[in-house]
Amino acid sequence: MKDAAATTPAQTIYLADYTPFGWSVEDVHLTFRLAPEGTRVISRIRFAPNPDASQGSFFLHGEDLTLISAKIDGQAVSPEISEEGLTCAVPDAPFTWEAEVEIAPAKNFALEGLYMSNGMYCTQCEAEGFRKITYYPDRPDVMSVFTVRIEGDEPVKLSNGNPVASGEGFAEWHDPWPKPAYLFALVAGDLIAHPDRFTTRSGKEVELNIYVRPGDEDKCAFGMEALKKSMKWDEDVYGREYDLDIFNIVAVDDFNMGAMENKGLNIFNSSCVLASPETSTDANFERIEAIIAHEYFHNWTGNRITCRDWFQLCLKEGLTVFRDASFTADMRSEPVKRISDVIDLRARQFREDNGPLAHPVRPESFQEINNFYTATVYEKGAEVIGMLKRLVGDAAYAKALDLYFDRHDGQACTIEDWLQVFEDATGRDLTQFKRWYSQAGTPRLHVREEWADGTFTLHFSQQTPPTPGQPDKLPQVLPIAVGLIGPNGDEVQGTTLLEMTETEQSFSFSGLGARPVPSILRGFSAPVILQHETDTETRAFLLAHDTDP
Ligand code: SER
Ligand code: ZN
Repeated sequence: MKDAAATTPAQTIYLADYTPFGWSVEDVHLTFRLAPEGTRVISRIRFAPNPDASQGSFFLHGEDLTLISAKIDGQAVSPEISEEGLTCAVPDAPFTWEAEVEIAPAKNFALEGLYMSNGMYCTQCEAEGFRKITYYPDRPDVMSVFTVRIEGDEPVKLSNGNPVASGEGFAEWHDPWPKPAYLFALVAGDLIAHPDRFTTRSGKEVELNIYVRPGDEDKCAFGMEALKKSMKWDEDVYGREYDLDIFNIVAVDDFNMGAMENKGLNIFNSSCVLASPETSTDANFERIEAIIAHEYFHNWTGNRITCRDWFQLCLKEGLTVFRDASFTADMRSEPVKRISDVIDLRARQFREDNGPLAHPVRPESFQEINNFYTATVYEKGAEVIGMLKRLVGDAAYAKALDLYFDRHDGQACTIEDWLQVFEDATGRDLTQFKRWYSQAGTPRLHVREEWADGTFTLHFSQQTPPTPGQPDKLPQVLPIAVGLIGPNGDEVQGTTLLEMTETEQSFSFSGLGARPVPSILRGFSAPVILQHETDTETRAFLLAHDTDP
């Protein structure tokens, strides 16, 4: 029998309880003395009181760490240590924190923090893995500049940013872009690079590498092409250029997620980057191209602009999934990509929305953030961006995105910041639209047709069933793309975007010579379950004549 007293009760964290950290981090210096059973991590961190927050007690996250020594401004201190971290008395002014801890990467089987995969050191810090590396305010709204020194015999030693020095047994890296700890990465091992180069549109030369274990060198070419296409696409479509001298990808065999967007050092599950014409299918190639693009696109939507807290996960994931889907559509076939995404959405996300795990795109409470890397946050999060783009139009979307990058570069943001940018760029009130972020469940959209005196009317009603914790639902803003097809198969009304905001709403099309057949929800313009009674003959007619693939 399990001893109940030994189990820590799960703690619920609420969005509404957010408070900023009491200190800002001016810079971080880390030294790693690598050893599988006893890696030493020496940190030197400059803290300053955050003028926009109350200081309270000084708490640093830290889990499974052995503290060897701690100093404040050079004086030894004895912090109070718990399972979650440490607290310590600190000066009422800027100060330097220094600590040395020991960790055991070879015994880290959670694959969070610093661990070993086939003799190679690697890290995974999203969402809360950095606290298993050293004591730190491990929250995404604490951003800082990192300098990292790695000491060890491994031939390749990598971290974020640009390489600044290396020699016998050491390598140093400096990342000039302030980042949260979840984007920290370190890799060390016997690796081989598949190198290339990319020149950005402003003429900056970037060194590219895909690092693999010896023997896998011939499986990198496709991934490298995908990376270069992604870099070019983000310049052409979003005006976003790469911002370091080097971009490294590493393939790792033991990796919990598909891949991770660590600044300048993306780490991939091998299956998501390695490909060869002999063994990979067309679907493998498309998936690898999409994941490489996804992680690369995070450099702006996730890294340069990150999340204030983990409730805002969809801010980076929904947007980045939307961006990678647009990229795949541009590289391949737009309708094929859309159809396969919708099949996937209906199979996975609708099911999630309809069951006991239903949750809003932006959850309001959690016990374990790792359980929220879901189809709702990612895929429904991307659908919400798609609806926003449809509602405001392509030009206004581009304007809003430019404003987002201008206004929030270097910040940790919220969904409110994101929607404010659209309100400011377009003058539109998005109060009701925001329900897409707070209300769980898939709306049912019922439609009934009426034909009289040359006027065709669509009567819509929407209803979202109750989900756990949300018994009553309010009407959502639904962008419904509709076209009308005449009896001879010609389109008599091209795609029109109806904006439904009420529970029941009707839209009429007049001056028609004959009753048309409607094509409703073109492009799957809103993530709803469409309830529209049609017969086989009408479906066959649409199959033959609808202009929407
Ligand atoms: N942040 C990672 C990603 O979505 C986690 O899988 O790219
Ligand atoms: Zn992502």
